[in-house]
Amino acid sequence: MKLKTMTMEWTGDSLILIDQRRLPFEEVYVTCADYRSVALAIKEMVVRGAPAIGAAAAFGYVLGARELMKKNYNYEQVVNHMKNVKEVLAKTRPTAVNLFWALNRMERRLIEHGRYEGLLRALEEEAINIAREDIEVNKAIGRYGAELLKDGFAVLTHCNAGALATVDYGTALGVLRAAKEQGKRLKVYVDETRPYLQGARLTAWELMKDGFDVTLITDNMAGWVMKQGKINAVIVGADRIAANGDVANKIGTYMVAVLANRHGIPFYVAAPTSTLDLSIKTGADIPIEERSHEEVTNCGGRRVAPNGVSVYNPAFDVTDHELVTAIITEKGVIYPPYEENLKKIMEG
Ligand code: MRU
Repeated sequence: MKLKTMTMEWTGDSLILIDQRRLPFEEVYVTCADYRSVALAIKEMVVRGAPAIGAAAAFGYVLGARELMKKNYNYEQVVNHMKNVKEVLAKTRPTAVNLFWALNRMERRLIEHGRYEGLLRALEEEAINIAREDIEVNKAIGRYGAELLKDGFAVLTHCNAGALATVDYGTALGVLRAAKEQGKRLKVYVDETRPYLQGARLTAWELMKDGFDVTLITDNMAGWVMKQGKINAVIVGADRIAANGDVANKIGTYMVAVLANRHGIPFYVAAPTSTLDLSIKTGADIPIEERSHEEVTNCGGRRVAPNGVSVYNPAFDVTDHELVTAIITEKGVIYPPYEENLKKIMEG
């Protein structure tokens, strides 16, 4: 079984990832032949973005099982040792729930299979399903979301919620892609997304490759651009959505949502239902990853801040549900009250 997209390739033996740390200037690939190298690739942001790390971890899980089965363990021993494989993959990044969602789904398949024979094939099939479904889900999000955008709209996006952050097509950028496929002419403003610059490096690159009209701005320009009347809608992705509709996404998203509210601009979140975490009541309980201080003190590989300065570097923030106009999922567009409507959509 094989799969190849812009973000990842499963060869049947290994997972090949485009190294997102090197984009946009170099298209370099990293080959992960065992689960530890997949875990490292997630931790070090070779691959990033909520659905993409979920799918990558699923393939890492397959590689972990293959390693154990080569040791001639029996089924019970494999199940036992896979707890450790799962933990190594799960400990890479804390905020995006898709990582845990994918690993739990892989574990369920491991248990349900119930025997040694055909186990590896069953796990590989599950990982491929996770990846292929992600593409279909994004296209459905795109179809629903495109209805919210009119021809001639200017849309602001933050971070990268595109093909690179998913298996393919993207969530927030999937909405833009679908609207463009329908013939709508859009202008896209891209926040550079300090400190990791996913907007400048990845979103601008991805959208330009697809022929979008792209304008890059620094994060602190968003308010002024809105005040000038240049933005008709904001669309972002999500890393975890709590039961009340609070949204964890890349740091800076909350600021953009507050600004959109102030200027009466709709603020849309595009995310698959695998990003919903109804076990968490509000955004206050979502674990927020803190990252290296160098991401803040340095710019383009050079230190710009004085030595010894204290630094705080949360990689995500939480946008209160009151600021979210709608959540676009593969099952439809969800409007407030979120607590009620998210539950309804999950119950089918
Ligand atoms: O730290 P990153 O680059 O993994 O963060 C990614 C984001 O915050 C994305 O906007 C989010 O995962 C949505 S991806 C479809």
